[in-house]
Amino acid sequence: MTQGEVGQDAPALGRMPGALAWVTNRLGMEELVEDQYNRIVPIHATNYMYCFGGIAFILFLILVVTGILLVVYYQPTPDGAYQSVVNISTNVAFGWWVRSIHKWAATGMVILVFVHLLRVFFTSAYKRPRELNWISGVVLLIVTMAFGFTGYLLPWDQKAYWATRVGTDIAGSTPFIGHFLLVSLRGGENITGATLGRFFDLHVLVLPVVIVVFLGAHFWMIRRHGISGRL
Ligand code: HEM
Repeated sequence: MTQGEVGQDAPALGRMPGALAWVTNRLGMEELVEDQYNRIVPIHATNYMYCFGGIAFILFLILVVTGILLVVYYQPTPDGAYQSVVNISTNVAFGWWVRSIHKWAATGMVILVFVHLLRVFFTSAYKRPRELNWISGVVLLIVTMAFGFTGYLLPWDQKAYWATRVGTDIAGSTPFIGHFLLVSLRGGENITGATLGRFFDLHVLVLPVVIVVFLGAHFWMIRRHGISGRL
């Protein structure tokens, strides 16, 4: 179909629901949207092995929604963090529920991303021309784990403290740049309010921006290449 004037009558758009067809027409984006909407999934890619990346993405969306709700009550300060988490779990309406969903979705996302990686690896889907998508996936894996690591400190309890202490000590044992990494992560030699502030910034600001950029690149490349063929 050729792209018409914005907002002018255009031929009906495929199997698209009316509201989406209306918005698409008013934005003059029929060609682009119809091409994406009417793609046919090859039969081999309807096998359940191909669903893990999509489920990981749905879990990510759940994490965004529950994370936004949590941050309404969470206080990223050494004096307030632990109490604010207790408050979320005991006083805030459905707070315990939202917190549990956030925690389980985070665990599920790490597992699903890894299973997705295994599917990609064992179907050789990382090979030419998908090398760059594999690399963007590696970044997504690192970012997913960084979300987990930074989020773990936020309740500011004993478990959080010791996990972060061990994790940053491991970073500190990196040859040559170890001490620089340790001090950068902790905001000093020890785990203090500065560490909590940095981890909170990473968790709710820096990592979300990075993951959105790389998810965009990942999905764009999947569309450019199409799903890999049957082995
Ligand atoms: C946040 C993490 C990730 C999300 C949400 C995600 C999402 C997706 C989705 C929805 C697909 C379509 C096919 C499928 O689901 O199997 C896909 C394909 C792909 N992903 Fe990921 N992915 C992630 C992480 C990774 C990782 C860690 C790697 C590898 C290091 C990777 C490499 C690839 C490659 C190479 C493809 C193309 C596969 C093909 O054409 O068969 N992805 N990804």
